[in-house]
Amino acid sequence: MSSAVQPKKIWWKESVVYQVYPRSFKDSNGDGIGDLKGLVSKLDYLKHLGIDVIWICPMFKSPMDDNGYDISDYQDINPEFGNMADFDLLLKECHARGIRLILDLVVNHTSDEHPWFIESRSSKDNPKRDWYIWRDGKDGKEPNNWESIFSGSAWKYDEKTAQWFMHLFSARQPDLNWENHDVRKAVYEMIRWWLDRGIDGFRIDAFTHTRKEPGLVDMPNPQNLEYVPSYAKHMNVPGVLDYVQDLAQNTFNHYDCMTVGEANGVNAAEASEWVGEAKRRLNMVIQFEHVGLWDTNPDQRFNMKDLKRVFNNWQKGLDGIGWNALFVENHDVPRINSKWGDVKNYWRESSTSIATMYFMMQGTPFIYQGQEIGMTNSQFAGPEDFNDVSAKNYYVAKRKEGKTDAEITAELNHTSRDNARTPMQWDSSANAGFGTGTPWLKINANYKNINVAAQVEDPESIFNYYRRLIRLRKDNEGLVYGSFDLVDADHKDVFAYTRTYGAQKFFVVANMTPKAAHCDIGALSLKPENLLLANMTVSDKSVEKNLNLKPFEARIYKI
Ligand code: NOJ
Repeated sequence: MSSAVQPKKIWWKESVVYQVYPRSFKDSNGDGIGDLKGLVSKLDYLKHLGIDVIWICPMFKSPMDDNGYDISDYQDINPEFGNMADFDLLLKECHARGIRLILDLVVNHTSDEHPWFIESRSSKDNPKRDWYIWRDGKDGKEPNNWESIFSGSAWKYDEKTAQWFMHLFSARQPDLNWENHDVRKAVYEMIRWWLDRGIDGFRIDAFTHTRKEPGLVDMPNPQNLEYVPSYAKHMNVPGVLDYVQDLAQNTFNHYDCMTVGEANGVNAAEASEWVGEAKRRLNMVIQFEHVGLWDTNPDQRFNMKDLKRVFNNWQKGLDGIGWNALFVENHDVPRINSKWGDVKNYWRESSTSIATMYFMMQGTPFIYQGQEIGMTNSQFAGPEDFNDVSAKNYYVAKRKEGKTDAEITAELNHTSRDNARTPMQWDSSANAGFGTGTPWLKINANYKNINVAAQVEDPESIFNYYRRLIRLRKDNEGLVYGSFDLVDADHKDVFAYTRTYGAQKFFVVANMTPKAAHCDIGALSLKPENLLLANMTVSDKSVEKNLNLKPFEARIYKI
């Protein structure tokens, strides 16, 4: 069952990554916006949690149309986050604690305020004109019918030169032209500049969108297609792997660094092309099959069959070949306990059950800020409560379709990315201890109950459960490198699997429903004294063959 080829050992496989959204993490100067000094002040907290690597979302200079994913200077810090001295301090303080730091590399697009774009838009014969994607309109309209991922057309008209430029995200995020070798050269220089400064790697934003299908012809009928196919001409199209190869060869492959590609549209069958170790492209990719990026169906709470199929494909597809990034939350998806768990009746149990399920697979686990204390989705009263550019565009698009603001708000309460971006809940004092100024996005009303201070000392807290999960991986190589095999694969409520590494074997089980469940463990034999971790007191000591689980119960055994 398990793979013959054991994965090669390396630090980034043995690490646990913590993702920081700097605007929402900790505000040190009272302006209501999180900053680098705020992050520095919380490094001891992160060290106590036990993480090894911090991935910080963009903190570069930016007009903040997409909260920093619109960069106007790759080699400077946005003043609201601090300055370069603060960044150097952050890097030094991370390293002093044995924590590595990786940055967000956003090179599918820049801000429209980036000097490259300002030059590019200045005239048709500017040397940087071809650094972006400019086209004439068709019959006075957009050059083609492609849609932006943030709603509306993917083109914006520019009066000055009477042409249109492409923006797959917001209209203030023009796409770079990756066909152009001068663009690549400039991007590579910037990457090497950061690596030479001592950072430990990158999470690479939206890279599957860099390649556009040549000819830029119309989508067949975008209105009638589902989300993913409607991006088919600019997401993971043939040729994009050449870009990845070129990027890695000119930058990452010359450093001991960690690379995590955001790989919207890549499936398990293709994954080895991206992260197969022999190819020397990327270390791992963040894929979206299991969370359903920008999922617009709030009624579809959870589907175990699909979840198992997706994870099993990735686990089997990469075993002995490449490496997985394991995550259930980030700044682009709503809180996972609100989506897959039951935060009303089983907040602690469902948060820890989901944690157990994903954390022990083969791969590098990622924790998104606040996930470790079970932060939940928020409540947004109306359009004024949202900050995200994609939520704002969504109101515009849906109003045109005749929807009322109340209907759109109800939908966005489940689906909006702002759910994950409310400020970190540090304690029960004013502004949840985030800072003294009025926060840029409303704090979740539940902060008096859900906060760091309430959990750090409580041995039964979600926070301390995450600490134990991290410790367990550190103490057991088999939980890092072992092969994955589903157990009771067709069970519709329970996610169970083994990990096998030479003579070491583990069993992980998570009931992911608010109902009691029985798991068929087949020929396996579980001994009560081999229980390594459980998210509730195990009263049933006679589990050897008969595994009965309470609602959202999760356990890990050595077998
Ligand atoms: C993916 C990032 O995670 C998201 O936050 C951003 O809006 C888009 N890429 C565009 O950069």
